[in-house]
Amino acid sequence: MDIPVEGFSKWTKAEKLDWIAQQLAPDSTNSKKLLESYWHTDPKVQRLHEEFIENTLSNFYFPFAVAPNFLIDGKLHTLPMAIEESSVVAAASKAAKFWLDRGGFKTWVLGTEKVGQVHFFFHGDTKKLEGFFKLLKPQLLERVSTLTASMEKRGGGITDIRLRDMGHALKGYHQLHCTFETLDAMGANFINSCLEAFAQCLREKALAHEAFTEEEKNLEVVMGILSNYVPDCLVRAQVSCPVRDLAQHGMSGEEFARKFSQAVRMAQVEPYRAVTHNKGIMNGVDAVVVATGNDFRAVEAGVHAYASRNGAYTSLSHVKTENGLFTFWLDLPLALGTVGGLTALHPMAKLALEILQRPSAPELMRIVAVAGLAQNFAALRSLVTTGIQKGHMKMHLLNILNQLGADEGEKQKLLEHFKKNRVTHASVKEGLELLRAGS
Ligand code: HMG
Repeated sequence: MDIPVEGFSKWTKAEKLDWIAQQLAPDSTNSKKLLESYWHTDPKVQRLHEEFIENTLSNFYFPFAVAPNFLIDGKLHTLPMAIEESSVVAAASKAAKFWLDRGGFKTWVLGTEKVGQVHFFFHGDTKKLEGFFKLLKPQLLERVSTLTASMEKRGGGITDIRLRDMGHALKGYHQLHCTFETLDAMGANFINSCLEAFAQCLREKALAHEAFTEEEKNLEVVMGILSNYVPDCLVRAQVSCPVRDLAQHGMSGEEFARKFSQAVRMAQVEPYRAVTHNKGIMNGVDAVVVATGNDFRAVEAGVHAYASRNGAYTSLSHVKTENGLFTFWLDLPLALGTVGGLTALHPMAKLALEILQRPSAPELMRIVAVAGLAQNFAALRSLVTTGIQKGHMKMHLLNILNQLGADEGEKQKLLEHFKKNRVTHASVKEGLELLRAGS
């Protein structure tokens, strides 16, 4: 693996597999067997998965789970979640159950606007560029009319194109800042195709623009690409109940609401805490985004940019207690799709969307935001009551037992034993050793 290889991408899968196995010698047969053991039994399905990406050798499993009892805007949902971290699904399920009896989750889609930009340098007369842009704009729209026709028929398309002077940040830097409505599609390919056509059109029309000097005609187009920052593709999820209904773990509703609010406010003012707080939100968000075949890297990047939109990284969630009413909510920018891309191709993503009763993209935005809010509620509730480790370690117990090589009988006995005893790695190891010594 420390020797460069030429033409690797053109090798067959068998050649790639042999190569990687040889690199791992002396354990080569085992690693090859391991990779092959993760192939799907149906060669057609295996082929489908291999073709999602490049240089595929095998599959990497993530558990696929469901969290029931999510009452969202009066409708009951079961959430599909693909995630490797123990306690996340349990936490989501527990939060869903808690809010089921308290009116459920309410959501609002605040916008569905996607963004893309053509980035270019222009060092000439800005007034002339503005005049040129007025002429250019209808020509840009005309240039992509075949690309946009079917999207427009369904009610979407390009919603605006603006010229932005970014010269204050980088000398001569300008943009065509374009906004899109892509309906149920995430729209990445549609947007990027439009932007590349805009970039070409901009180059051609600038060259032919008589009012420009030679230098102005040769404005330099650098790239056209969508932005994963979508602050106007925004959804709000909220829960609310009388403070007295929050009583739990020997705490009054007032005491719980006060401690919970303190925890949120800390994340609002302090980045170390805000990052972990938001990570808890993303536990829920990513799990549903991955399960439904959406791009979690895009979502992560956009969400964290949104969390820093006012110049400091802060909590994505908010809380207030007014007139005896506790309200907890978050706003998330989410560019998601329920048609096209992997959502149509990955059999498990298709199934996940069926479990969600085939939502539209705005409906999926609502559901994903709720998953984030539920997760945040569950984590904060544990943090300000029992501490996180109790529940987390309870859920992690099976992982520890598996790591220690416990068999099924030992697992059952120790799962029973740890219902009443504190789970730590050391206590589980000791419990297993004692069990084995006893037998
Ligand atoms: P518990 O009270 O011990 O659970 O909570 P329970 O056994 O009494 O069961 C109550 C309900 O919880 C169940 O209802 C389920 O809904 C759910 P039922 O199904 O019986 O009607 N539940 C489960 N669902 C599926 N499988 C299970 C299971 N067990 C309970 N095995 C629990 C245990 C873990 C839920 C609780 O302690 C909790 O919510 N903890 C929070 C866990 C968490 O947030 N984990 C995320 C990882 S930590 C992290 O990454 C983020 C963090 O750093 C963020 C931050 O700092 O803000 C914490």
